[in-house]
Amino acid sequence: MSIDLEAAERAFEEAFGRIASTVVRAPGRVNIIGEHTDYNHGFVLPMALEQETVIVAAPRDDRKLNAFALNMNVRAEGDLDHRARDPEASWLDYLIGVADELVKLGKPPRRGADLLVMGDVPVASGLSSSAALEMAALCLFESLGGFRLEGAEAARLGQRVENDFLSLSTGIMDQFISRCGKAGHALFLDCRSHEYELIPVVIPGAVFVIASTCCARGLTSSKYNERVGECATAVRAMAGKPGCAGTHLRDFTLDDLEQCRDAMPPLAFRRARHVITEDERTRAACAAMRAGDAGELGRLMTASGVSLRDDYEVTSPELDAMTEIALSLPGCHGARMTGAGFGGCTINLVDASRAEGFAEALMRGYTERTGTQGEIIVSKPGDGARIVR
Ligand code: GLA
Repeated sequence: MSIDLEAAERAFEEAFGRIASTVVRAPGRVNIIGEHTDYNHGFVLPMALEQETVIVAAPRDDRKLNAFALNMNVRAEGDLDHRARDPEASWLDYLIGVADELVKLGKPPRRGADLLVMGDVPVASGLSSSAALEMAALCLFESLGGFRLEGAEAARLGQRVENDFLSLSTGIMDQFISRCGKAGHALFLDCRSHEYELIPVVIPGAVFVIASTCCARGLTSSKYNERVGECATAVRAMAGKPGCAGTHLRDFTLDDLEQCRDAMPPLAFRRARHVITEDERTRAACAAMRAGDAGELGRLMTASGVSLRDDYEVTSPELDAMTEIALSLPGCHGARMTGAGFGGCTINLVDASRAEGFAEALMRGYTERTGTQGEIIVSKPGDGARIVR
């Protein structure tokens, strides 16, 4: 599935009565494994989706952002000289936030723009529609300003928009994969050094199936920030103990954690156990992907899901039901929730020859169990953010 760019340009012309000069696009993402590890300086293995956010634009002579969100059919106006959040149009905050970070970087947007935003990344589903919007916005300002940031630098700018402009303590995974993803590949990222490796998604005889619980995430940001705090508590308890040194959970082993068990609340212990074991699973999953070992990759994904449910406690009854049903179906190598959690999607590794039957049975079983209609999201690994013209 992909957005019809010509239709997007026509919609721009209709909305603004002029021809667009710039078209940019940036994808959502699904995370294969490595959940809640990024802000702990650990490892992640996401892939970009074919679902994306597209911005069609033309520069203005003033400093206004005159924006139209086609999906919601709403307009909003921003000012490049007064970069404040707008509670009435929170979607525009992502664009203003990117502009604000560009000012701090010494690359201020020189002109405003008329712009149309549209997309097919499901919102509030754990597939990073907001990172897609941020990275599309950055491409827009890059295109209008005639410069191009390096990939990791672009992702870091997106993370600062979240952390500083929007006050969310999120890590760097979503922006990184949205910017640096490559069709046919997953991206193994070291969230401390920001070094990465693109790994071909070629798992003989198996495919990923993404399934949405169609339950929007609730209270995600407050619970997310709570988890970030609990990880910091575990780090404080371990750092400085004999033989233990480090600033983030990435720096500690399970042995360190066991040694310091009594020095921290049981909850912080379990949160840290998830993160430390998840880093191990993520590295092992890369090896399994390179070896094309569906059985091993599936096993690691399922173990990640169990840890997210029991130790990190970021699943929901719907995510648990969907995962359990998936694992009971023939041809399923592994299943887990993906993204921040508390709702959203699962990712499943399934025998290619059985994928269709799997998807149908999963949707049927999920509706029977929860009374809610789920949705299958079909995507191959897609390309990262880019300027179309
Ligand atoms: C959200 C955040 C990411 C990451 C995931 C959980 O998507 O934006 O930085 O922490 O949750 O892995």
